[in-house]
Amino acid sequence: MERKSNHFSGQLGFVLAAAGSAVGVGNLWRFPYLAAKDGGGLFLIIYFILVLTFGFTLLTSDIAIGRRTQKSAIGAYTEMKPKWKFLGILTFLVPVLIMTYYAVIGGWITKYAVVYLTGQAKAAAADDYFTSFITSSTSPVIFALIFMGVTAFIVYNGVQDGIEKVSKWMMPILLVLVVIISIYSLTLKHTDSSGQVHTGIQGFLYYLTPNLEGLTVQRFLQILLDAMSQLFFSLSVSMGIMITYGSYVKPDVDLNKAVNQIEIFDTGVAFLAGAMIIPAVFVFSGTEGMGAGPSLMFVSLPKVFAAMGKAGIFVGILFFVTAIFATLSSCISVLESIVANCMEIFHTGRKKTVSVLSAVYLAASAIIALGYSIFYVEVKLPNGSTGQLLDIMDYISNSVMMPFIALLSTILIGWVMTPDYVIDEMERNGKNFRRKKLYRIMIRYVAPVMMFILFLQSTGVLS
Ligand code: PFF
Ligand code: NA
Repeated sequence: MERKSNHFSGQLGFVLAAAGSAVGVGNLWRFPYLAAKDGGGLFLIIYFILVLTFGFTLLTSDIAIGRRTQKSAIGAYTEMKPKWKFLGILTFLVPVLIMTYYAVIGGWITKYAVVYLTGQAKAAAADDYFTSFITSSTSPVIFALIFMGVTAFIVYNGVQDGIEKVSKWMMPILLVLVVIISIYSLTLKHTDSSGQVHTGIQGFLYYLTPNLEGLTVQRFLQILLDAMSQLFFSLSVSMGIMITYGSYVKPDVDLNKAVNQIEIFDTGVAFLAGAMIIPAVFVFSGTEGMGAGPSLMFVSLPKVFAAMGKAGIFVGILFFVTAIFATLSSCISVLESIVANCMEIFHTGRKKTVSVLSAVYLAASAIIALGYSIFYVEVKLPNGSTGQLLDIMDYISNSVMMPFIALLSTILIGWVMTPDYVIDEMERNGKNFRRKKLYRIMIRYVAPVMMFILFLQSTGVLS
């Protein structure tokens, strides 16, 4: 088979780049929120079990397919079964949609990093600071364009000299930063107006302790579905990204080890994000003060940092730098997978492909960034929430397309290609695929059923 000229230098480069894709805002603003909402330790236990079963299955499949076919989503699915090319195209469309708004979020984070670095921590904690920022028609656009430009520059430099090089220093620093901030969170102590003392350790225990209060079968299922949708968003699976990255892995790399390491990295950072955010919010505002998504990062946390006094400025800087690294490495992977698909389809070179796509996405990012001002719309989504342009893109790609693609791809691998297609790749060069039995059962029976339920739930059919 024709091997790519483009590849990661080895296992470490691949694992850090893939972990870079996996670790993102999902870890920082979604995991802690879900853990706090869904019963602390109860959510953690369910999530960890799913990582080892379901996450393992999807991640293994994506990476093995990529390395076996040496192609990105469209080419890979076409090579497996020409009739299933449509699934490759659908998969390709997920990053195409995500890319329209990911740099916008990256821009918001960059803006906050700048705000903290320039000593405006107090201003950022004001009630309407975030709203007035995103509804402005200049600043969010400028920051989105900067973020998009940096992403494009790195991807332009290629797999080894761009993506791998950046991931190799950003990811270890990110890990150190989350560890430092979590430790700091544990040491927090605050006396509220009624004289009660709240400590970081109490907050940490709240995070770890399974809360079974009011647990019904229905609530348990809800937690399970929350954990499941979080999981495949978190691992960047079912969107072709890991297929593309898998296609850059050399044949002698042990994919079994790589899959484990990527899962440990992503889950570890998610857990630590909870350990840094939940105790801090708990100490200063109680966990009712914990927002979800953007409001956690841009509204709740700035208030917490302000309550920390002088130290908060410093913690704020560390936190937003961490968030920039997390978002940038994810954004890179989204663009790379679009670029890789286009290079294969149009037989164009990297530099030209990146240049054209950058122009397209600079424009798209600007439009989405203006979705809170000039292009304001308010749409009621089938899952009950209302959203602007960014939420619409996010809803279509993550809530509708991803579960649907995951469902179809488990059917393709489990029943059409049969699991041996993936297993053979995992055992290439005499490597030992230890969880082979588990993989077979998961990909054929468990995963398709779970994905079907998740799809019904996230599209609002089941609620
Ligand atoms: N896996 C990333 C996270 O957990 O934040 C999110 C993500 C990255 C989603 C890249 C989509 C993507 F293409
Ligand atoms: Na993640």
